[in-house]
Formats: sequence, C-alpha cells, structure tokens
Amino acid sequence: MRRVPEPELMDDPAQALAYTGADFSEPHGMFIDKFRDLFPKANITGNVLDLGCGPADIAIRFARAYPRCHIDGVDGADCMLVQGELAIRKAKLTDRIRLLKGVLPDAILPHREYEVILSNSLLHHLHEPAVLWECIKDYAVKDAIVFIMDLMRPDSGAMARQLVNTYAVAEPLILQRDFYNSLCAAFTPGEVVAQLGHAGLSQFRIETISDRHFIVFGQF
Ligand SMILES: C[S@@+](CC[C@H](N)C(=O)[O-])C[C@H]1O[C@@H](n2cnc3c(N)ncnc32)[C@H](O)[C@@H]1O
Repeated sequence: MRRVPEPELMDDPAQALAYTGADFSEPHGMFIDKFRDLFPKANITGNVLDLGCGPADIAIRFARAYPRCHIDGVDGADCMLVQGELAIRKAKLTDRIRLLKGVLPDAILPHREYEVILSNSLLHHLHEPAVLWECIKDYAVKDAIVFIMDLMRPDSGAMARQLVNTYAVAEPLILQRDFYNSLCAAFTPGEVVAQLGHAGLSQFRIETISDRHFIVFGQF
C-alpha cells in the first residue's frame, strides 16, 4: 500500500488524552528490554535525548532502567507535553527528565551533544523522514548510542484494520483512528534502509521485532 502521511503533531487535546490513557506497556516495555539486550555493557550516565517524546512514558521507563542519566524530551505538541509533565511529577523524576517544546528540525536543544538518542513512534509522523536522521547526526556525540523504534506499514488497509482490531479494540475510537492512520503513514523496513543510506547512516542496523514494529540501532 502507498504511504498516506498523517499530521505531524498530535496537538488535539482529546487525541493527547486518549494517547496518554492507552495501554502501551507491551511495546514500551519491549523498547526498554530490546535496548538492554542490544547494549548490555553500556554505562548510561550522560545526557539522553528522546525525540518526539509525547507524554514521556518512554523517558520515564528509560530513567527508571538507567538511574544515572538525564533525559531531555522534545515534542512540538503542547498538550502532549502537559501530560508528560504530569507523568514525570507523578514518577518523581523532575530532577532527571526535562521536557522541551520544539518542532523538528527547527527545535533548539539545550545540549550540543547527547550520549544516547532515543525515539519511539516519531518517524512515521514526519512528512520528511530525513528530519529524524539529520537531527541524530546534528546531536549525537561520537559513539553515541542510537535506538529508534517505529511502526511498520502493512501491505494493505485491510491488514492495518486487522492490527487495530488485534491491539486497540479496547481503546477509545479516537485512538483506534490514530493507530490506523499511523500504520498507513509508517515506513517499510526497505524504505528505512534507503533513508539510512541517503543519510550516510548505513552503519545502523534495522530489525523487525513484532508484527508491527521495527527498530533501528547502532553507534554513531
Ligand atoms: C505517536 S507519538 C509518540 C510519543 C512517544 N514517543 C511515545 O512513544 O509514547 C508521536 C509524537 O511525535 C510528535 N511529533 C511529530 N512530529 C514532530 C516534529 N516535527 N517535531 C516535534 N515533535 C513531533 C507528536 O506531537 C507526538 O507527540
């Protein structure tokens, strides 16, 4: 199926609320588990950047898994950041996670370089995917760990609908709609390999890790 882009920012309050209330424990838990499996010896102590952080669930999980790092999360949607600030306060991690409003690629980040760059489910929102890869090149310190997870576009709208029915049928309709649109907006692993080639990041590896997710990982 052809890619059908969706709006970049999730700046509708109802959408942000539905997203924040959804149960992402399985994919977000898998994000942390996979990171740990791939970088078992990494001493994560420095500054971590979470691109398109949304309501900060990934940042919170990462901060708990690696208690000696500091995380900057950036997102362009105010209503997502409001939910993120609430979650960080509840998790008592205000001293280690800072959220910033910024729309990539124009966002100005507080550190010049980061030791770890993470992103979950941002790539499929970007109308121009090179924005993610260029941002990584701009902000990664030499040898930085890069770990990206995103949705994979299925072969057809019917398959996208089937994934929605399998994984989001208990969620509000707005979330089911967004999940469907995100699957249709996502990239295939082959397209991502081409993006990495164009960006000069072919050292990164890509792996399919579920019926709807791939990861891209490596050291810069
Ligand atoms: C599907 S959400 C993922 C949120 C979070 N990473 C997570 O895994 O829960 C995608 C997020 O990327 C943000 N986003 C999309 N395009 C962006 C851009 N160009 N600059 C900054 N944030 C962007 C959206 O506002 C939204 O909060």
